[in-house]
Amino acid sequence: MVSLPEKEINLPYGFKDPIEYLKALVLWAEKFQWLHDLHIVDFFTHEQWNMIDQEWRLALEQEENWFDTVIQLPSFEPVINPSWPDTLKEYIHETHRLSLLRVRPKNEKHTQFKKHMLFGMTGKKIHEVERMSDLIQQVAKQHGISSALDLGSGQGYLSRALAFHHDMNVLAVDMSEIQTKGAERFDRRVIRHEEKYKEDQEGYRGRLTHITELITPDNILSVLTRWGDDQDDSSHDEDDPKKHWLICGLHTCGDLSTLIMRLFATENDKVSCLVNVGCCYHYLTEKPGFSFPETGFPMSDTLAKMNFIMGTTARVLACHSPWQWVHQKQASKKSFEQHFFRALLQKIMVDKGLSSASKAPPLAHRINKKNGFTGYVQAALKKFGMSPDSITAEEADQYLEEYKYAEKQITILWTLRSLLAPVLESIVLVDRWLYLKEAVLQKRPLEETQIISGEHDGLTKNNNAPPSRGVWMWPLFDPLESPRNIVFVASK
Ligand SMILES: C[S@@+](CC[C@H](N)C(=O)[O-])C[C@H]1O[C@@H](n2cnc3c(N)ncnc32)[C@H](O)[C@@H]1O
Repeated sequence: MVSLPEKEINLPYGFKDPIEYLKALVLWAEKFQWLHDLHIVDFFTHEQWNMIDQEWRLALEQEENWFDTVIQLPSFEPVINPSWPDTLKEYIHETHRLSLLRVRPKNEKHTQFKKHMLFGMTGKKIHEVERMSDLIQQVAKQHGISSALDLGSGQGYLSRALAFHHDMNVLAVDMSEIQTKGAERFDRRVIRHEEKYKEDQEGYRGRLTHITELITPDNILSVLTRWGDDQDDSSHDEDDPKKHWLICGLHTCGDLSTLIMRLFATENDKVSCLVNVGCCYHYLTEKPGFSFPETGFPMSDTLAKMNFIMGTTARVLACHSPWQWVHQKQASKKSFEQHFFRALLQKIMVDKGLSSASKAPPLAHRINKKNGFTGYVQAALKKFGMSPDSITAEEADQYLEEYKYAEKQITILWTLRSLLAPVLESIVLVDRWLYLKEAVLQKRPLEETQIISGEHDGLTKNNNAPPSRGVWMWPLFDPLESPRNIVFVASK
């Protein structure tokens, strides 16, 4: 069974205190802001190649097998050439050292669903739901809880596993009716299958209700009162754990994760546990300093007091998973070519007065590169609403010929920048961990004060404290299978 790790937070080598760790992350992110704030579309027009240390450029450009050497740098076991400049080696080493550990323990056993439970799920979703539903069931059981509120439930894969496989009562909420209706269709399909093949004749003990509602900071507290009160009506005692909820969410995008965390922090009567994996940090509302209600980024008092601003470009980067590149070499090649084409197109447009060097027009979607650079240029002009004659095929070909050497430089620059992705994600994650920790401490101040304030190695030091209470954060999924793989478990 998937179980809680021994340590609440597993800090990287050399760190004992989460706050000191966060400070080091912020320092590193600020030092390399010039790099993570780059938009590769401006590669030519902002002469970005010259922004990189000349020694670094020479070392990486001269590598014989340069593509393989470069794209493996963000992998979990990077090979670093000892002859590279010390500053480059330090940058790569330190960026890796600062990033939270994301590799999960091997061979951890978990539930495997029957085939009909898997309707509609991809291999990635099965991987996630099998592990996450196991964990939720374990945490709920430990606290005597039988009801789960699944926020941002989508097609209901997690909710269905909790209700139909783990026998929990589940309230599944999603803002999109397409999602909730789709989820109900899947529910009926699973039930029909069970009836047809007379499997599990005991029937389903868990109750599953899908609700369509947009969760906001204003209504989240009322979701449970409006919809949840009839989930378990056998007890009228508010302290009865059966009356309590575990709130969860799998890949809850942007602010939704932080809304869930806030609900856990503020609702003491009904909510005692949280299990959450977030994603899509670019959708987070970023607030300068600290403002109420606490949702978005940052969440913790600690980070708010540091006055750190990440910005949208860096938050987009925080969602990248460059450790996957080496396992997807062809896809990576294509992706770098896309960046090269976009940057070259911008150069032509600026040279011809079709665009300003300070403001590249956004291309919302990737362009099919089937017809090479000329086809790319034509498709892009169409998307920008420009005449196809604005850039002729001959012009496009000439530019490609003249600048094709730069694809290598773009790959190197983009890789050096992408190394920072896990550092930026670590800031978001540690901020959330500290916020939850602050919330648990507020509820139980005397018991755990030493955990957050002093010499801290992430272990729950108070031997009298029930081991099931605290805030844990660790990689639950295989990072190659599901890159947003860090789960939070909190209980108070
Ligand atoms: C990335 S999907 C994950 C779906 C599902 N948990 C899964 O793992 O398959 C995020 C879901 O959250 C829903 N969502 C995002 N923000 C929401 C909000 N504020 N209130 C309700 N649903 C929301 C979206 O409609 C979407 O279905």
